[in-house]
Amino acid sequence: MHDALTTLRDQSTPPEMFRRMAVRISLLLAAEATRDVPVEAVSVQTPLGPAAGRRVGARVVVVPVLRAGLGMLDAVLELLPGARVGHIGLQRDEMTAVASQYYSKLPPDLQDSFVLMIDPMLATGGSAVSALDLLREAGAAQIRMICIVAAPEGIALVERHHPNVHIYTPAVDQGLNEHKFIVPGLGDFGDRLYGTA
Ligand code: PRP
Ligand code: URA
Repeated sequence: MHDALTTLRDQSTPPEMFRRMAVRISLLLAAEATRDVPVEAVSVQTPLGPAAGRRVGARVVVVPVLRAGLGMLDAVLELLPGARVGHIGLQRDEMTAVASQYYSKLPPDLQDSFVLMIDPMLATGGSAVSALDLLREAGAAQIRMICIVAAPEGIALVERHHPNVHIYTPAVDQGLNEHKFIVPGLGDFGDRLYGTA
C-alpha cells in the first residue's frame, strides 16, 4: 500500500501510472473497510463435491464523490461486484475551498445498506461532511469512508459532525497550506488522475 502511495505522491508520476496506483491502493483500502460486511453461508459444487463458502450477505452501496472518487470506483467494484453505486458531485471553490454540490443520484433503501463512501482526499473535511450530510438525509445509517490521504483538520471535522462514520486511510499528513491543500499530500488528485492540471 505504501509503495503505491509513494508513487501517487511523486510529482513525476504521469496520469496513466497515477490511475493504476489509485486502483491498487483503493482495492487494499476497500478490503480493509469491508472486512466485517455481513456474509451468508452458501454451498457450491466443486468438480470433486460440495464445498462450504461465504458470499456477501448485505446490500452494499458505494458512493464516489465526483470527480476524484471515480478513480477509486473500479477497484471497489472489483471487490464488491454486486454493489450499487450512488454518485455525489462536489467541487471546492478554488479561492475559498468551500465545497458546493452540483450532482446527486443515490439508490433507494439506503437505510438497509452498508454504505462505503469513497473520496481520495480529506482536506478541510468540508466535502466529506456535505456528502455525509446528504447520505444521512437519504437515510443511510451504516457508513464508512475510505480516503487515500487525510489531513488532521478533515478527520476532526468529520468526527465532529459524523462521529459514527469510520474513516479508513493509510496516511494522515501534517496539515493544510494557505490554499487548503494537504501538505505534503499529492497535489490535486482529480487533476493528476485525469491530466487536467
Ligand atoms: C477534492 C477531493 C475532495 C475534496 C477534499 O475534490 O476529491 O472531494 O477536494 O477537500 P476538502 O476536504 O477541503 O473539502 P475537488 O473539489 O478538488 O473536486 P474534483 O474531485 O472534481 O477535482
Ligand atoms: N483536494 C485535492 O485534490 N488535494 C488536496 O490537497 C486538497 C483537496
